[in-house]
Amino acid sequence: CGIVGYIGHRQAGPILIKGLQKLEYRGYDSAGVAVHDGSSIQIRKKKGRVLEMASLYKSSPVSGTAGIGHTRWATHGETNDQNSHPHLGGNEDVVIVHNGVIENYTSLRSQLQGLGYVFRTTTDTESVAHLLSHHLEEQIKFGSDPEELATYLKAVEITLTKLTGTYGLVVMFRDLPDTMIAARLGSPLVIGVGKGEHFIASDATPLAGYTDEVIYLSDHEMAVLTRDEIEIFHRDEGQQKLSIQTLDQVSVDSELGDFEHYMLKEIFEQPQALENAMRGRLDEDEATAKFGGLNLSAQQLRKIDRIVLTACGTSWHSGLVGEYLLEEFARIPTEVEYASELRYRNPPMSNSTMIFAITQSGETADTLAAMRECKRKGHPTLAICNVVGSTIAREADGGIYLHAGQEVGVASTKAFTSQVMVLIQLALFLGRMRHLSHPAGQRIIDALHQVPDQIRKCLECNDQVKDIALKYSNFNNFLYLGRLYNFPGALEGALKLKEISYIHAEGYPAAEMKHGPIALVDEVTPSVFIVPRGQIYPKVMSNLEEVKARKGPVIAIACEGDDKIADIADDVIYVPDVDDFLQPLVTAIPLQLLSYHIALQRGCNVDRPRNLAKSVTVE
Ligand code: G6P
Repeated sequence: CGIVGYIGHRQAGPILIKGLQKLEYRGYDSAGVAVHDGSSIQIRKKKGRVLEMASLYKSSPVSGTAGIGHTRWATHGETNDQNSHPHLGGNEDVVIVHNGVIENYTSLRSQLQGLGYVFRTTTDTESVAHLLSHHLEEQIKFGSDPEELATYLKAVEITLTKLTGTYGLVVMFRDLPDTMIAARLGSPLVIGVGKGEHFIASDATPLAGYTDEVIYLSDHEMAVLTRDEIEIFHRDEGQQKLSIQTLDQVSVDSELGDFEHYMLKEIFEQPQALENAMRGRLDEDEATAKFGGLNLSAQQLRKIDRIVLTACGTSWHSGLVGEYLLEEFARIPTEVEYASELRYRNPPMSNSTMIFAITQSGETADTLAAMRECKRKGHPTLAICNVVGSTIAREADGGIYLHAGQEVGVASTKAFTSQVMVLIQLALFLGRMRHLSHPAGQRIIDALHQVPDQIRKCLECNDQVKDIALKYSNFNNFLYLGRLYNFPGALEGALKLKEISYIHAEGYPAAEMKHGPIALVDEVTPSVFIVPRGQIYPKVMSNLEEVKARKGPVIAIACEGDDKIADIADDVIYVPDVDDFLQPLVTAIPLQLLSYHIALQRGCNVDRPRNLAKSVTVE
């Protein structure tokens, strides 16, 4: 979910709406704003995209210079108008937007209902709104001054002690029109510092164009914002000195240009993205790669005897490629962990285990929590991340940026290939500190230099893939099969199709297929075989024959010049012949395009698929 707040001298509504549009990547189930009109709190909220809420707002705008907004990815309570944030509490004296999950909301809800509070929604957040209203009323009843900020702060403080779970929340009060209060535990919030105006948001993207001075709120901190002042209080340590940072890079709005969708644009940006991921990092003299931000000495790096890569979704798939690379080039035992599992597991890790969190957004809640857990245990914890200044990038001990540029499409494309490109260079770098010879390192570098052009070549298949998509778009089940470096590629190909076309697809190691999924093969279950020439090409070809023998349609992704495969597969998409470790890069292109064109054929919203969010900031 995304939060934005504004208090200043301009009309709040339009600023909030613009901010929410930039935050939509965090969820687009519903959106809403609450604006203080001087005497009451006015809410406009609606199920669906921010645009829909914006047109509601346009038809009945609110005049006021303080307000809060929210774009939702539903956790508790279905997606409908009522469940959209902001939520009012009590007799409309309190309004709140919230990210995170309140785990004890059912018991809070029944206690508050017992006290006479009437719930209008099925969300966890509404409990917080009523609880806050309740404690405010109590404060005033027992003699606190309703004109004094201290009364409101106390009510927030008491409310927070009653919450179990995570929150990034911003509240406004009907009777305190010139102030907003924010609090954080687990869900990021950043304050934008302006002149006579202040902003607050779940990340810095909506601040672009207004200010580049920010204050990141830490866990257990509360912030009080007025037009001219910011105060921050820590639960245990009291008032804090303000630590204002300048954003290195305020995100630039990504324009669609001539492309119909962001996903297609981002697929076509990959040659450039991969060049950016390599820029300044290849050291020809030493036949290695170099990174500025690892913050570990050569001595520390040589001691590393195990690597854990942790991530979610597509980033987890690039981690799987990373495991093969790090073990092959650097011979360091590597494991890939779902962040959502790692955060609660307690696997034995030696002191010399290095952790890499892989994340496009740098905001994924599970990845952040897994990273913190590893940090707590004293491991060097680094990040491979795209978004500069994101929470994970800031909290990691060091790391490597992708420099892929903003990725807007919910289905990750250029971030995936850029992550793989960074992992290849990381494996080369660690390998050259250990076993890898100079000529071997040089061969890898030479191969890497050719990648951007090879990707350009792959993109030429777009029209052909479109025709293939036309042929297969009515099928409802797909298998994606590959081996070695192409097994993660198969998982990623299947995920892309699932995400944007809602077709059931399974990725499998091609040979493992005979232990179960082969039972699914029939005339209406196509298999996408990733079968470029390489170490075990004949073996994968046998797996392909096994599918054909059972009348399964086959789309093959194969190497240029492989004429034999055209006689066996129903359709073939050719990619350049590259080293095995580069196959996940070149084969990713037709796989991405295939899912894109199939989704289009089925009339799906490729950039904003249902139920998903670009960045999942709740557990
Ligand atoms: C969401 C997105 C995926 C993404 C995953 C991890 O589920 O829809 O595309 O791969 O989060 O995101 P991250 O930003 O951490 O890479």
